[in-house]
Amino acid sequence: MNKLLLSLALGLAATTATAAEPDTAALTMEARQQVKAFGGELLQTVQQGMKAGGPMAAIPLCNTEAPQIKARHSAGDWQVGRTSLKLRNPNNAPDSWELATLKSFDQRLAAGEDPMKIDASTLENGQFRYMKAIPAGAVCMNCHGQNLQADVSKKLSELYPADQAVGYLPGQLRGAFTLRKAVATQ
Ligand code: HEC
Repeated sequence: MNKLLLSLALGLAATTATAAEPDTAALTMEARQQVKAFGGELLQTVQQGMKAGGPMAAIPLCNTEAPQIKARHSAGDWQVGRTSLKLRNPNNAPDSWELATLKSFDQRLAAGEDPMKIDASTLENGQFRYMKAIPAGAVCMNCHGQNLQADVSKKLSELYPADQAVGYLPGQLRGAFTLRKAVATQ
């Protein structure tokens, strides 16, 4: 290939790369929709359990349903999950971007940001990644709070011997939703 053709080809490649730049604003909107659907189903499930028989009835639901709900919502283009700095289920452990982002979320909360709006995204290795903070509310205190019922505490430590996800106060961040989707970069 002569020089002119080569630079033309490279030039075209460069143009294509710019044109294929992922639309992060649109991806963020999509991610927020995914969080609404996934988070909504989780919340509905725990609330149903609580209504049916309090935390002792809701624990087995969280234990078995949460991983299934996650799998169902990860069947399409998006992978969804939850993570935390203080884990209950070790399968939800954060990777390095998630760890750094969870820490930054706590700092943003301390700096006065609205916990319902704390989120972040990045492009990494051909993936769009998104995280959204999960503030702990009153219902969460039954299984993540400071004064658990004795039977609840016992059941949780049977199911999760290394459980760290207790001792929270309402308004603190319990963790974050974490999502990823493959995107064309370059
Ligand atoms: C009935 C007990 C119960 C209640 C109430 C409850 N959780 Fe959980 N939570 C669990 C269990 C059990 C798990 C582990 C399930 C799993 O495998 O993801 C869990 C896991 C989580 C995780 C995943 C991270 C981790 O530590 O593994 C987050 C985030 C979370 N809960 C947030 C909340 C929030 C926010 C609320 C209130 C809206 C809440 N939970 C209410 C029992 C409960």
